[in-house]
Amino acid sequence: MTMVKKNTLSELAIFGGKSLLDRPRSTSNLVQPDFQKFMGYSKTFFDAHHYTNNGPNVKLVEQRLATFHQSEYCITFSSGFWAIALAISALALKGKTEIIMPSLTYRRMPDIAAWLNLKPHFCDVDAATLAMSAATVTPCINENTALILGVHPIVNCCDVDGLVAIAAERSIPLLFDSVESVYEFTAGGKVGSFGNAEAFSLHACKLLNGFGGGYVTTNDARLAEQLTLLRGFGFRGADNVVVPGGMNAKLNEMHAAMALASLDGVDDQVARNRRRYVCYKRLLADLSGIRLLEFNELERPAYKNIVVELLDDWPLSRVDTVSILNAEKMLARAYYSPPLHHKARSFAQTPAGLPVTERLAEKFLSLPCGHFVSDDDIADIVGILGFIHVNGKQINERLHENGVT
Ligand SMILES: Cc1ncc(COP(=O)(O)O)c(C=O)c1O
Repeated sequence: MTMVKKNTLSELAIFGGKSLLDRPRSTSNLVQPDFQKFMGYSKTFFDAHHYTNNGPNVKLVEQRLATFHQSEYCITFSSGFWAIALAISALALKGKTEIIMPSLTYRRMPDIAAWLNLKPHFCDVDAATLAMSAATVTPCINENTALILGVHPIVNCCDVDGLVAIAAERSIPLLFDSVESVYEFTAGGKVGSFGNAEAFSLHACKLLNGFGGGYVTTNDARLAEQLTLLRGFGFRGADNVVVPGGMNAKLNEMHAAMALASLDGVDDQVARNRRRYVCYKRLLADLSGIRLLEFNELERPAYKNIVVELLDDWPLSRVDTVSILNAEKMLARAYYSPPLHHKARSFAQTPAGLPVTERLAEKFLSLPCGHFVSDDDIADIVGILGFIHVNGKQINERLHENGVT
């Protein structure tokens, strides 16, 4: 049982009380690798005066990530965004216009399509996994389909085998956005080795912190070469443009140094993430009306994200629950909200309707996690949720009487 530290409604920060946490705790991972390791890798490029353009750390991190993901090639980029965009530009079927992607996902995904003059075609998700699957993608395939973007959700993996099978059967290129499944294995093998290619992020909020950055893994030598050219202006040699559409999307050496230090510490990080997850699981078990999304142990999860479902008997709306937690400096967030098809976008396609996404859109939220969240913070967070659970009716009345939210 958690200790309830607030006894009256007025003690809630949203009603003017003091925030329970002294500093904000967010849903960003913000993992800090060993500083000396980071300095060691940094010294290598600093001493070599090689700061960018395929320096020693970029070469090393690409080798090590290819090995980690059991893929032939790894190509790094300045961000996950450009890793995905350039991989799509290389893979999408020419003359076709649509990328199939889930609506319940990362909010900038349609912008990636827009940069490429392609249209997102939003598919539904499976109610049990919150992920796209062969069954939800199949109705979206048509004569305009240029590529399937298989996006893993925040907890556990999408239907990798099903997507690989449908893409092969219909001869459609398949790129995975595996930003949230870096560490995982599926029944068929290590994430990073599927489809035409897989894309990842090295943003500070992800499992591997490179301050920022991204990478693509693939077993296709031609694609690897094309992506290497595209990220570096399309140059081969000094000023010889051999592919159009190139840009400067290279990872620099300092970011590669941080990514290497993160990779060195990833197993220790996962052990710490697991401790936090087990702590949430133990404390939330006593609370009805809220369900923790459990990790699939068979996939060797990284336990990074904590997502809960507000069940029908939870007394407050998600927006009010998030507002109360945020006032306590607990930066919980609505899960992928709003779904992408809710935003008017003249270029997007959602012809089939998305009943599961609609039904689930308001139910899930991410709770604070990552490097700076302690067991005591988790006890405080679950304590506030417990207080909401017991006093929901009165909180609701007071919130809406006063027009606070
Ligand atoms: C699922 C997903 N894909 C892609 C990205 C883009 O990665 P980056 O921030 O490195 O551009 C993100 C970033 O949060 C993401 O969550």
